[in-house]
Amino acid sequence: MDYHNPVLLTEAVDGLNVKPGGVYVDVTFGGGGHGREILKRLGPKGKLFAFDQDKDALLNTIDDSRFKLINENFRFLKRFLRFYGAKKVDGILADFGVSSHQFDVAERGFSTRFEADLDMRMDQDSKLSAFHVINKYDEEQIRDVFLQYGELRQAPAMARLIVEERATNEIKSSEHLKEVLKKFVKHKNEHKVLAQIYQAIRIEVNQEIEALKELLLQVPEVLVTGGRLSCISYHSLEDRLVKRFIRNGLFEGEPERDVYGNFEVPLKKVGGLIVPSKAEIKENSRARSAKLRVAEKI
Ligand SMILES: C[S@@+](CC[C@H](N)C(=O)[O-])C[C@H]1O[C@@H](n2cnc3c(N)ncnc32)[C@H](O)[C@@H]1O
Repeated sequence: MDYHNPVLLTEAVDGLNVKPGGVYVDVTFGGGGHGREILKRLGPKGKLFAFDQDKDALLNTIDDSRFKLINENFRFLKRFLRFYGAKKVDGILADFGVSSHQFDVAERGFSTRFEADLDMRMDQDSKLSAFHVINKYDEEQIRDVFLQYGELRQAPAMARLIVEERATNEIKSSEHLKEVLKKFVKHKNEHKVLAQIYQAIRIEVNQEIEALKELLLQVPEVLVTGGRLSCISYHSLEDRLVKRFIRNGLFEGEPERDVYGNFEVPLKKVGGLIVPSKAEIKENSRARSAKLRVAEKI
């Protein structure tokens, strides 16, 4: 619980409709809250694979012969499942975003609360860090990251200031970055703007949108017919992609029609959008933006 307090725990695992002898994947293991709940519902013949690209999550591994934790990016889902002898699975759970542990360890650089080097890598071996984005990307790239992932209207001016500053001084720390952008974050919206800036950099550093799309595209192939996808998103960019993919099997445009004129889609939604109760949000403020969607392979 110290590592991460799982969000929508019962609802997300209920969405998987766990069969005791089934094979399941938790693609965002973190502190293992959801993973443990899946294991509880599995019988002796069941199996749970889990992915997390953060080495710190390995400390939470579960000593259980039915469990295998894979320290890899979930964008390689199919490849690693095949490697471990599982071509098809009965359910996939994804709880996107950052763990409380990642936010709470100052040196990881995810939190606006601390002073730290610019990092924000979930995978500690990745070459792409917040330092790289801020100091090596060109002005247009920085602007686009802020616009697309932070929905920041002032993105062009922010990118300009960053590029001007780094021409003479590398921007190595969060304090330095905040100082450069202080005119945008000093008014009453301070916290919101800073959170948007951090979110944008983090999404880029971890290539979160690309990884999410790659994961979803593999889901129909990996799930058995009737298998379930249970997905928790934390911002509208993610949720929009999940919603569209469940509806259309695509991220943009309309799906193809079959010979009868029906849309050919790989998944069907199960129930509506689920959000945390007031009580859960009161107890765990990090749950406040969570949105759960469940789908079944047709
Ligand atoms: C919100 S936490 C998951 C918490 C978990 N459900 C629990 O109950 O503790 C998200 C986790 O997913 C991991 N993660 C995010 N994107 C990933 C990716 N593309 N591949 C593998 N792991 C990823 C993060 O490192 C983090 O530990």
